[in-house]
Amino acid sequence: MFLIPLLALAPQANIEARIDALLKQMTLEEKIGQMSQMGLPDRITPELRKEMQAGRWGSIYGWGKSANRAELQKLAKESRLHIPLIIGFDDIHGYATGLPIPLGQAASWDPELVRACTRFSAKEAASVGVNWTFSPMMDIARDPRWGRIAEGYGEDPFLASAMGVATVQGYQGTSLSDPDSLAACGKHYVGYGAAESGRDYNSTWIPEGELRDIYLKPFEATKKAGIATYMSAFNALNGVPASANPLTLRQILRKEWKFDGFVVSDYAAVHELIAHGVAADGAEAAQKAISAGVDMEMVSQEYFQNAAKLVKDRKLNPKDIDVAVRNILRIKFRMGLFDGRPQPAPATDPAPTPESLALAKKLSTESMVLLKNNASTLPLRTTGKVAVIGLLADNQSDQLGTWSSADSKYSVTALEALKSKLGAENVIYAPGILPPKGGRGSDAEVRGILADKNTDGFPAAVQAAKQADVVLVFLGENGNMSGEGFSRASIDLPGAQAELVDELAKLGKPIVGVVMAGRPLTFHDTTQKLSAVLYAWHPGTMAGPAITDVLFGDAIPTGKLPVTFPRSVGQIPIYYSQLPTGRPAAAEPTDHFRSKYIDIDFTPEYPFGYGLSYTTFQYSKATASASSVKMGGKIVFSCDVTNSGHFNSDEVVQFYTHQKSASVARPVRELKGFLRVALKAGQTKHVTFTLSTDELAFHNAKMKLVTEPGEFEAWIAKDSASGTPVAFRVTR
Ligand code: GLC
Repeated sequence: MFLIPLLALAPQANIEARIDALLKQMTLEEKIGQMSQMGLPDRITPELRKEMQAGRWGSIYGWGKSANRAELQKLAKESRLHIPLIIGFDDIHGYATGLPIPLGQAASWDPELVRACTRFSAKEAASVGVNWTFSPMMDIARDPRWGRIAEGYGEDPFLASAMGVATVQGYQGTSLSDPDSLAACGKHYVGYGAAESGRDYNSTWIPEGELRDIYLKPFEATKKAGIATYMSAFNALNGVPASANPLTLRQILRKEWKFDGFVVSDYAAVHELIAHGVAADGAEAAQKAISAGVDMEMVSQEYFQNAAKLVKDRKLNPKDIDVAVRNILRIKFRMGLFDGRPQPAPATDPAPTPESLALAKKLSTESMVLLKNNASTLPLRTTGKVAVIGLLADNQSDQLGTWSSADSKYSVTALEALKSKLGAENVIYAPGILPPKGGRGSDAEVRGILADKNTDGFPAAVQAAKQADVVLVFLGENGNMSGEGFSRASIDLPGAQAELVDELAKLGKPIVGVVMAGRPLTFHDTTQKLSAVLYAWHPGTMAGPAITDVLFGDAIPTGKLPVTFPRSVGQIPIYYSQLPTGRPAAAEPTDHFRSKYIDIDFTPEYPFGYGLSYTTFQYSKATASASSVKMGGKIVFSCDVTNSGHFNSDEVVQFYTHQKSASVARPVRELKGFLRVALKAGQTKHVTFTLSTDELAFHNAKMKLVTEPGEFEAWIAKDSASGTPVAFRVTR
């Protein structure tokens, strides 16, 4: 015991020595206790007190009173070796101040703002005694049927990496031991977003090259950014569950990336190895997960119930346990948990502050994507009466979206914001879709109120529209129609919303659609009846003020799609960086024998990176600093971007490349850079992107990361379907 106090003199400098000193003293039960996480209970029973004092649990997580967190932390520190708890929570997009869902945050293409917003979210959560968050979720998703597409950053590894890194920096700040910092947790490691048929928890089949070049990219980027932990996923990855997968957990994460934090399983994912059919019982599940490299088990107790006996029966190498405990202790030391980190226990949750609300509103505003704006319907003028139609204009919880911990009492709805801007007398509201008779907890509530086919509310909505000069219709999904377990086989507008728009359109007045949803939706026919469409995702606490600012031009929409919008669910999976195929339809659109459909256009409804503005931007033809670049060198691409309209605005300028021929087929485009460029009306700026040849690397058929010489194209463009390519060559 003498050694520890000395080492504590330079806490962060001697972590490995402190771990060694501690590990030497730990019993096998104490080690297995560190590998076990329980859900935060409502009540601390006498048994739980004893368990904590015996070092039975290394972590707690979840909703609950901060006083219980503090009491359990105190009890844990009373254990023989005084090992503190790491205390987790799903602070996914704002703890007290609700931020846009992560898919909406990605639509901002503004990592710096995401980092700033995440920073205050970390402070809010840390203030109630949480010190670990199960975020960022970085599952690449190319199937909007999958409910959890809402929680991630979309289809592209480059954009998802930028967002994931910004989020980690926001949570972890400059030091893990900062009492305002949270240890971040990259999830779900790995491939969960490729769930077959978009059905949650379903199998994933990802060729290793695609796994490494697409799905692992954001996780690798956050490792380089110093992320503290990862969460192993539910899905079977090529038949081997991600929570018992030696390739991803040992070979890639540890041997190749040299990650030295720890891995927690997803909720009961260790126990679920039995259901996967790779473990006969809990003992085998524990053996497989620990041997593969899952350091901590969330909620299920296979480790605690089986690991000691597995070691005794020589079915589990005790070294694997020591490695797991070492990883866990390393993060606890880095977080300052052994060195007096405070464990706050305020009586109430923090309230949003003017600063947090202002930042959240900015992010909500920047997340919105203008999909259509015929005849410059938007921005609206502030005169005349406005009909506001749709439940989503007036639902404080729906606008927060899935996995929100924000208190909906702080939500400012669009209806409220519109009334305060225009005067209540100028706003006529009608829900359009009446809340179902079932009430809370009913099937409709579970499926989402908007799933209801009830049309009883149509007459009042039409009446409201008749009295107004402008009609705003709020469409989309309830907040609980996306997220975990909320996959949809159809991604049409739920319920009778399309029919509602049909009725309103008969009046012949311009209708502006504001869509709140947790995923891309297919609503082509409805869009034809709308003069303008603003896609707002689920924008968080400040949805109302943000939407109002954009609708009336106090803010200019700058959002760009982080995910492709299909014309039909039948096109899924659909994403911009597809391989060309041997018969690309775009090359010969009239040729029947091409990779396309006979019933709809093969292109998306809206492409990745797409988003309109109230102004217009002109791009000059991109040029390259040279026609070729030597392997290992750099080449610069540039173009002039002009704001050719009447509004000052940012433009998210995107940079894509394509290798025309290589040892394996390469995607028709890949995002390699983006820049938010502020342009006053009439202003031109010269925009450059510097590309090094190693950014063109990919995993070849032998799984070697290589850049191959050859002919390339590059675009500087406003989205993934625009621009004129500039040719360049990479030479040895
Ligand atoms: C859930 C989710 C995961 C979350 C965890 C703890 O099942 O899959 O994202 O962090 O359990 O709530």
